[in-house]
This record gives sequence, structure tokens and C-alpha cells, in this order.
Amino acid sequence: MALTPEQLIDLAALVGAEHVRYADELAVLDPGVDPHNLGGDLWLRPKDTDEVVAILRYCHTKHISVVPQGGRTGLSGGATSRPGDVILSLERLNTLTLDPISRTAVVGAGVKLAVLAEAAAAVGLSPGIDLGARDSATIGGMVSTNAGGIAAFRHGTLRERVLGLEAVLADGRVLSELGQVVKRNEGLAVERLLIGAEGTLGIITSVALSLVPLDGPVATALVGVPDLGAATRLATLALGQSPSIPTALEVMSRNHAQAVCQSLGYEDLKSLAAHPYLVLVELSATTDEAAQAALLGLLETAAETDIALDAALAQNETQRAHFWRVREDWAVDRERPGGLWYDISVPLSRLSTYVDDVTERLQKYDAQLDLYLIGHLADGNLHVTVNATRPITERYDEIAAVVTQGLTALGGSFSAEHGIGVEKKATLERWIDPTKRDLMRSIKHLMDPHGILNPGKVIPN
Ligand code: LAC
Ligand code: ZN
Repeated sequence: MALTPEQLIDLAALVGAEHVRYADELAVLDPGVDPHNLGGDLWLRPKDTDEVVAILRYCHTKHISVVPQGGRTGLSGGATSRPGDVILSLERLNTLTLDPISRTAVVGAGVKLAVLAEAAAAVGLSPGIDLGARDSATIGGMVSTNAGGIAAFRHGTLRERVLGLEAVLADGRVLSELGQVVKRNEGLAVERLLIGAEGTLGIITSVALSLVPLDGPVATALVGVPDLGAATRLATLALGQSPSIPTALEVMSRNHAQAVCQSLGYEDLKSLAAHPYLVLVELSATTDEAAQAALLGLLETAAETDIALDAALAQNETQRAHFWRVREDWAVDRERPGGLWYDISVPLSRLSTYVDDVTERLQKYDAQLDLYLIGHLADGNLHVTVNATRPITERYDEIAAVVTQGLTALGGSFSAEHGIGVEKKATLERWIDPTKRDLMRSIKHLMDPHGILNPGKVIPN
């Protein structure tokens, strides 16, 4: 139901005119990756926790729905809004305090990952998490979606990085659990329910994070391998390569790598991209020379054991950036728009079997479909793009059933690092354990009795 003129006036007064946008003004703002992100009636940009409290108290009383937003670059539709919604932009909650001795940071929800990473690097530390959207993704959004990324195989997802958090509950009460210690046992860790809840149980306003030492210089290679079994063996080799540390182990299928090299004109990488799979390996050591030497040693062993068919070492930062673009660019979406993509994870030992099985299942289901794979190899997280000669957008849920079948039995997951949002709701409903579904509904009802917080997202119907 649309907000009344009186409600619009009351809510706007809580943050001040400069930080309010009405529905007709939202069209000129950047919606981010999802055109439906700015579909609400009112956009408010509170300056601190107190203003969030005031807004939620009001919305709770009047049963007005609230959609929190961070960088608006989430990929599962968790920040989409509709008429009648109040959009809460948390970008002004941008305080940042570092404690280098304890290796912790307390940051406002609106702090961008790159900003935190830069501040931490200045004192020799890192958030222990990195992802392509580092310049837009905010800590609040990342905690709310339990984001993963490139370094999760070493330092876990956000859930493992969070020491404590502060959140405003649906009725405006503040849950303040901002402890900054690893060891803290004070009854039920209720605040941790908000990690990955995508704003459905409360609005995260501040987060205490554990930081890790900054990595030393890195050496980077793109390695051509014959199959995913070899890619897995390469990961195992790299992980056992002491004293250097693998800082990235990313994988991509031939069709993905070829599409990117073609699209970006990377002539020098085309022969490498012709191998069935490419693995991007990055090793870190105390000096550039040590990192290069460790990487050369790894590649030699990989060649001797028939793991690596060919490899290229990045000779400078430009080439390194090209290697990363081969992994992170989504040329296939530009060239064949209307495809679908899924975000799954499998224990590494079963990755190859899963891909064989899913390829066969998709072939049987519809032989016209093509499969493109990229992913964070070391933690078994694959981004599976399914494409056809014409757009298949409307087939998301039925193809999801084929792609995600059997993952739970394999010990994997149908939803790895981008949250559920609205996109994966049907998949969640399909595979969720009934006991867990009941608990999720009960918890939602307990924490948000009027269902005002990010309605329609995550929580099963
Ligand atoms: C990636 C992001 C989209 O891995 O998760 O490219
Ligand atoms: Zn990813």
C-alpha cells in the first residue's frame, strides 16, 4: 500500500530534507545492478543509529515496510523494493575505527570494503575478505548477505570475520553486541542470526570485524589444465606449498575464457584459453622474488605431474590485471544476454563429479543449453552460467532445479556467496529442510511480528 502524504512528511522529518528522495526523484538515482532496487515510495538516508531507530519505531507502529540498502550491487535481488516500501540507504553510517594491536575494526554498515581495506593496509592489516565489487559493496550489505569472495578459502566468509554487531530491530530496539574479541560466550549468540538474514530480522548498523595480517607481494599465473580433476590437484599442490601462501585460486571453463579474450582482444592469451580449464593462481611470499620462485616451483611440479598443460606468469601489473579480467569479466552476458547464472558450492573433492553430473543433466533436460563455469576453486564455489541462443530469463527456477539437484547430499550448497534475496527463494523452498523452514518462520515472526523488514526476501513463505 502506498505511503500517505502524512507518512511521507513524518518520515522525511526524521532525517532532514537533504537526505530524502521521493518516488519521482528515484528514477534519476543509480539503481545499481538491479533495476528494481529503487521501486519504493521513499528513500531515506539516516546519519546514525538513532535515526534508524526513529524510522523503525515509526514504521513498526504504522506497519510500513523497510528495505535496507548498501552498495546496491547484490546479485540476488535482496535490495529490490516496491511501491509502499521505505528504502533505507545506510551509506552515511560510515564511521571506521581500527585497533591494530587487537587486529580488529569497528565499522559503520555503510563503509565500503575498499575503504576498510585501504585503512587496514595502512597498519599492515586486511579485512581477510576480498571480492570484485570491493569499490561498491558495503560492510553492512556484505554481512547481511554473508558475502564470500576470493579469500574465503583462507579466512572464511563474513560470518567468520564478524566478532560482533549492532542492529536496530523491527520495533526500534537496539541489539548491541559489539564485542571485539574472538572468545565471547554470553548466552545465545542471537546477533549472529542477522548475518546472512539480508535485513529481514533487523538493520545492521555497525560491525566489529576481525582483521588478518596483510599479504606480502604476490606472483600470478594463468595455468591451462586438462580437466577439473587436474584443477583440483593444482589447488591441493598450491595449498601445500609452504612457506608461500596461495592468495587466490580461481577457475574458469574454456568457453568463458575464450569469450573474454575474444571480447577484450587479449590475443596473447588466446592459446592458453584454448585449454579445457584455466586456473588463476596467485602466491604470496615475503618478497617479490620469493613469490616468483615459489610460483615457478609450483608450475614445474604441476607440469611434471601432468596437471598443467601450459602456463603464463604475469610479468607486470598490467598483465596481472588482464589475468584477473579473464576471470572476472562476463563477456558471455554481453554477447549472449538473457542467460541465467547460479551460485553453488561443492566440497572440492566432489567438484569434478558434480560438474560431470550437471552437464549430463542439463543435456538431457535441454540439449540447446550451454554451460559456462567460473569460480573460487579452493572453496568449491562455482558460478554456473546457463545460456542458449535466445533469452531464457523466465526459466530461472526450473533450470535452478536441474543445476542445484543433489548438492545437499554432496555436502554442498545451492546458495554459496550471494544470498537468497528474491532470486533464490524458490530454490530455497525446494530444498530447505522442513524443520529449518519452521524455525526460520518462527524467528521471523518473533523478531518482526508485523513483517515490515525487507518483506518477501529470504524467509520461506
Ligand atoms: C564473482 C562474483 C560475482 O566471483 O561473485 O565474480
Ligand atoms: Zn564469486
